[in-house]
Amino acid sequence: MSSEGGKNSSPPSYLIGKREDIVHAKKVTKFINGRDVLVLYHDGVFHAVDMRCYHSGGPLQNGDIEEFNGQLCIVCPWHKYKITLLEGECLYQAVDPAAKVPNPTWISKGKKQRIHTVKEINGDVFVTLNDSPTFVESDYYQTEKFRATLRKP
Ligand code: FES
Repeated sequence: MSSEGGKNSSPPSYLIGKREDIVHAKKVTKFINGRDVLVLYHDGVFHAVDMRCYHSGGPLQNGDIEEFNGQLCIVCPWHKYKITLLEGECLYQAVDPAAKVPNPTWISKGKKQRIHTVKEINGDVFVTLNDSPTFVESDYYQTEKFRATLRKP
């Protein structure tokens, strides 16, 4: 795997592929430095997120992209959780059971999915992993402990 990062102190950026190829494919998955990352292209913008959903490890590469409450989200194909592509927040609609007329309100559960940085240089697309030490729930599905569960018969 190529790296655009150099010998300076900034985190390395990993080559994902040619812009035109990713635009055409719309979604690409890559194993980058120990992480499964989903890179997607939507409405002229690239996004990169951990590939497995924080909830139960669902394959976000099979999820639809939709807008909820003005926020672009990927919808997990397994249980339909809505994860914002900008911050990795999970959104849900809450209803006050005491209200006479239900008035659903969008609420965030907080940042659950790790979001990475994408940049384009001369027609190539690179991802820089978000290496924040703060645990994000999607981190679990990037561990060897989880991968071992995938290998069980
Ligand atoms: Fe994604 Fe459950 S695994 S919503």
